[in-house]
Amino acid sequence: MVAATPPMGWNSWNFFAGKVTDKDIRDTADLLVSSGMRDAGYVYVNIDDTWEGKRDTDGKIQSNEKFPDMKALADYVHSKGLKLGIYSSPGAKTCAGYEGSLGHEAQDAATYAEWGIDYLKYDLCSYGGVMKTQAPNDPAGQNRLMHEAYEKMHQAILETGRPMVYSLCQYGMDSVWEWGPEVGANLWRTTGDISANFDRMSLIGRSQAGLAKFAGPGHWNDPDMLEVGNGRLTLDENQTHMTLWAMLAAPLIAGNNLTVMKPEIAAILMNKEAIAIDQDALGRQGDRVFADGPLEIWAKPLKNGAKAVAIFNYGESPSEMRKDNLHLKEMGFAGAVTARDVWAGKDLGKITDAYKVTIPKHGVVLLVVR
Ligand code: GLA
Repeated sequence: MVAATPPMGWNSWNFFAGKVTDKDIRDTADLLVSSGMRDAGYVYVNIDDTWEGKRDTDGKIQSNEKFPDMKALADYVHSKGLKLGIYSSPGAKTCAGYEGSLGHEAQDAATYAEWGIDYLKYDLCSYGGVMKTQAPNDPAGQNRLMHEAYEKMHQAILETGRPMVYSLCQYGMDSVWEWGPEVGANLWRTTGDISANFDRMSLIGRSQAGLAKFAGPGHWNDPDMLEVGNGRLTLDENQTHMTLWAMLAAPLIAGNNLTVMKPEIAAILMNKEAIAIDQDALGRQGDRVFADGPLEIWAKPLKNGAKAVAIFNYGESPSEMRKDNLHLKEMGFAGAVTARDVWAGKDLGKITDAYKVTIPKHGVVLLVVR
């Protein structure tokens, strides 16, 4: 099965955006290997928007001057034990104004397969305009057109015979989690774009409460790509970001510049226990158990009856968990549990609801309890 666990990899958009080149992708592939990220699970190297050139006289899409030879690039990425992802839109133009796939869906899927592409992010962009023109003042009709556009590319991918992860990007419109699996989606964006600041990241992550039942092996909610290591996120904020995404069984698609990755960022992205929570074979997304202002407790069921429990402090000052606050009963535990603190890398022994901990501003404590 494609995407039996949430896809892991790297995407060019969050750091390189429109400047990404063939060299950036090759450098990233090299660094995914030498940093240990590939072996930690980050195997997809995804080129986002701005690789597209013009179509030739047969209508075949060409890459632009930043990507002289896409097939050679795919071969290089594959030679490193990695997979290559690409990006397009069901509209005539992508979000950055490059060539989209409208009217060329089967041809483009065939070209991707010929190049050796393993993952397609398909971004609504200018197709929104097509929907409005073809079904004016008819929201249901517009939604139908959107479903059909995504199904069309799904069929085109199937016809190539090459397995590709199919990533929908339409910002959560029309509750995509309810119909994404029907159009072959392995993941679907649930929100607008993330950015590398705590407010936006945490707003997106917290807004995923209630979506757990729509995720499972082969089909995942996607709260957007990671900003770990980007912008001015502090270490606590980066840890909160990674924790929240792991609790959400979210795709872990890093978006930082690996050529300047600091050891403490590498440690967050490659924390084995956090990754194991995200990638747990049960494939269950976590959800919010308790909220008291800036303090939130989320739980995620893991295989073998264990649970990941994350205590977040979204507030502006350190916050102390008060007595009887862990809410273990709501998580299905009768009394004391055995706990491990993931970020501290420490076994805590037995703890109860009376567990006390102080959580820094914008920080988190991540436990695995059983
Ligand atoms: C949209 C998507 C982003 C990125 C850009 C590229 O904004 O949501 O993730 O792909 O387009 O133009």
